[in-house]
Amino acid sequence: MRDKVGIYPTLACADYLHLAHDLEILHRAGVTSFHIDIMDGNYVPNYCLNFDYLKAVSSFSDTPCDVHLMTSEVERDVERSIQCGSKAVAFHVERTDLDTDALLESIRMKGCRSGLVISPQTPVEALEPHLASCDYVIMMGVRPGFSGQAFLEETYARIGQLDELRRRAGLDVEIIVDGGIDFENASRCIRHGADSIVAGALNIFSHQQGLEKDLERLLRSLE
Ligand code: DX5
Ligand code: ZN
Repeated sequence: MRDKVGIYPTLACADYLHLAHDLEILHRAGVTSFHIDIMDGNYVPNYCLNFDYLKAVSSFSDTPCDVHLMTSEVERDVERSIQCGSKAVAFHVERTDLDTDALLESIRMKGCRSGLVISPQTPVEALEPHLASCDYVIMMGVRPGFSGQAFLEETYARIGQLDELRRRAGLDVEIIVDGGIDFENASRCIRHGADSIVAGALNIFSHQQGLEKDLERLLRSLE
């Protein structure tokens, strides 16, 4: 589908004391987007990043930011994400209390990419009615909330299922896999139909050989 695998470094795993240095490395390497997880301690039992952080990172370079919202006040936080410079915003399909399509379309109307996130326990079919309003789907490989968890094997089949759904619908929705990606399973996700991966604690931020070399290793694994 796409000629290059999309790389979305998740900044929740970055070393905050070396943030500018690391952003520079990632920007120069041509990563696709900085993935910003925002958690409010309510929708998921953890806190993570915030809108000031997003504002700072989105003004750092022309590498765009994408926000993965794990907060209770989704409509409010979609607005804030866009105001603070995000070029893409995704919220969970499990939030059936929202007018999902209207919200996705409102993100597009503001010139941003619209995304839905699906957690491991949710049937992939839940996405089907909304695919036409989505520019991308984030397929979780772990339960949302924490970095460093092991990748759930059933995710491969779920990626394949979503790939099939989008083909049947004739839609070019990007599939991004988030959570538990390591140096081995990244290419397997791509073979099952994913376009892109969220790179985090088990690869580029694993502190094995340092960010630059670990990123090179990840990119080699995807050739
Ligand atoms: C989890 C977040 C992920 C997380 C990635 O809720 O959405 O973006 O940071 O996890 P790791 O670092 O384990 O791949
Ligand atoms: Zn995420």
